[in-house]
Amino acid sequence: MSRKVAVLVGSLRKDSYNRRMAHALAGLAGPALTFDDVGIGDLPLYNQDLDNDAPPQQWKRLRDQIRGADSVLFVTPEYNRSVPGGLKNAIDIASRPYGKNVFDGKPAAVISVSPGAVGGFGANHHLRQSLVFLNMPVLQQPEAYIGGAANLFDENGKIANEGTSDYLRKFVETFSKWIDTILPAEGA
Ligand code: FNR
Repeated sequence: MSRKVAVLVGSLRKDSYNRRMAHALAGLAGPALTFDDVGIGDLPLYNQDLDNDAPPQQWKRLRDQIRGADSVLFVTPEYNRSVPGGLKNAIDIASRPYGKNVFDGKPAAVISVSPGAVGGFGANHHLRQSLVFLNMPVLQQPEAYIGGAANLFDENGKIANEGTSDYLRKFVETFSKWIDTILPAEGA
């Protein structure tokens, strides 16, 4: 059985290090996880006035994609020591209307990637604050604040150094076990 992971990447940039990280993680994960890229770049800004019987179709698509996943992986840059507005917008949309939060109870993991040395620690932890309110059980260890992103990938988008690659493999393997801990086995 393969667990479906909805992947939300906080960067919209074409050459995003975070997007490369999301692809690299998909490559490092075994068959136990299937990654589903959830686009956030086309989402109209959340406006409660529009959240009626006919919300924007992009919001509906986002909510359906997350509802259909077993778990959620957030891969985010740090913007001004927090998450980019586009990712926060996606979170706000998928958390509403009140009582219909599609993140509710889904196991999650967070990884932040930055060219800076601190590895997006501020964004990683700001995001975790929202995930508490969304009632998502979030993987605690291993933490993943990945700095030095400019030197992280080779020309094929693979992780260029073995130590980091081993660490990230451990990260996805532990996430996979975490999902199995939180969710009942299929058919159970
Ligand atoms: C940044 N950047 C940044 N980096 C960081 O480590 N801490 C920060 O607080 C910020 N703040 C910030 C704000 C804004 C508006 C931008 C555009 C950028 C730099 C950021 O880490 C860098 O642009 C990364 O390359 C963004 O990630 P992607 O797009 O490569 O995935």
